[in-house]
Amino acid sequence: MQCLTTRLDGTPPVLTERTAPGVPDAPDAVVVRTLRVGIDGTDHAVVAGAHGHPPAGADRLVLGHEAVGVTETPHPQLPEGSVVAPLVRRPRDEATPARLDMAPPSAVYECGIAGADGFACERFVADVASLVAIPPTLAEVGVLIEPLSVAHKAIDLAVAARRTVPWEPTHAVVIGNGSLGLLCTLALVLDPRVGRVSCMGRRDRPDPTVTVIERLGASYLDTRTTPVPQLAESAEPPTLVIEATGHAPHAFETITALAPGGVGALLGVPTDDVRSLDAGRLHRDLVVGNKALIGSVNSGRAAYLQAVETLAAAPAWFAEAMIDRVVPHTAAPEAFTADDTTIKTAIEFSSYEERR
Ligand code: NAP
Ligand code: BGC
Ligand code: ZN
Repeated sequence: MQCLTTRLDGTPPVLTERTAPGVPDAPDAVVVRTLRVGIDGTDHAVVAGAHGHPPAGADRLVLGHEAVGVTETPHPQLPEGSVVAPLVRRPRDEATPARLDMAPPSAVYECGIAGADGFACERFVADVASLVAIPPTLAEVGVLIEPLSVAHKAIDLAVAARRTVPWEPTHAVVIGNGSLGLLCTLALVLDPRVGRVSCMGRRDRPDPTVTVIERLGASYLDTRTTPVPQLAESAEPPTLVIEATGHAPHAFETITALAPGGVGALLGVPTDDVRSLDAGRLHRDLVVGNKALIGSVNSGRAAYLQAVETLAAAPAWFAEAMIDRVVPHTAAPEAFTADDTTIKTAIEFSSYEERR
């Protein structure tokens, strides 16, 4: 079957004929017919050779870590025909900690990213424990579950970091209006604990991401006119900041931007970026301001289930506005040629209806 593969060297991905990726011999293996695979900033970094690596001994990696599919083999825990979103991480060996999303990177593989083939294939095989059943009503938009779960995990970790002190997310700011930033904005807007929500970008209006932000009821802030550190001097400095750009200076600017007692969660995965900064000022600000800065990567089943709830509760227009380009799998390499106006490209391998 045709799979979308990369050499992780900056050359464009291509369609390659091969068998379904996954673990066909595992006792709990389930065959999944792929419906759609979403593309995010990490996939672009993988193709560019800036992140990830192929499976041991292979020179190509099957792309795709945001996926939705339909199971084709019966399993006592998962009836045939279930709509599923696969988890991204797999244990490297028996010593890998059970909570894969909190395990060290060296202890796990990431399908479609690091050391294990992904899901951008007509079919893939997965252990039943790595599949999360989602409502069939979300089959078309299920590629948003994985990145939305990343947003939920980060929010949970940030809230947990303030659990022992008086703190309220009165103003939450997301830095970055790429697909992950917009999903963070959705999760925060629908979170009853959160007051005002803003999302920062560097785009001129009209822009489809600004439309999404404002239709959600959040405010758009332009980092060119309101640099991140200036948030500290605004009428309502943020008590919660989620960084979703991968632009390394934003991580440190988050410290300055936060209100005293605030918490920042970093999600971006930057390449090396050597610069000078006033480490003393940032260190002091973090300490005397009682601020917290956390990093968060990947997500597990509980966060996927939160994402399912959030996506089901999202306004009807949201998912269609987010997945604004769908390419057929026969033209899958074109998914990597999207221009700046595309929010998220999905590759369509099959439709949910066709085999019901
Ligand atoms: P994306 O669609 O490429 O969006 C990136 C966003 O960052 C855009 O809003 C972009 O603005 C902005 N940006 C990039 N460089 C910037 C700079 N120098 N200054 C200001 N803004 C800048 O990527 P994504 O899929 O949303 O992912 C965002 C980041 O999170 C990436 O680093 C990705 O690898 C990472 N990520 C992490 C996890 C995790 O588990 N921690 C999960 C998913 C993604 P413009 O479009 O205007 O340039
Ligand atoms: C994926 C995560 C993964 C991270 C680091 C993100 O794009 O969504 O599942 O852990 O990249 O590779
Ligand atoms: Zn991702």
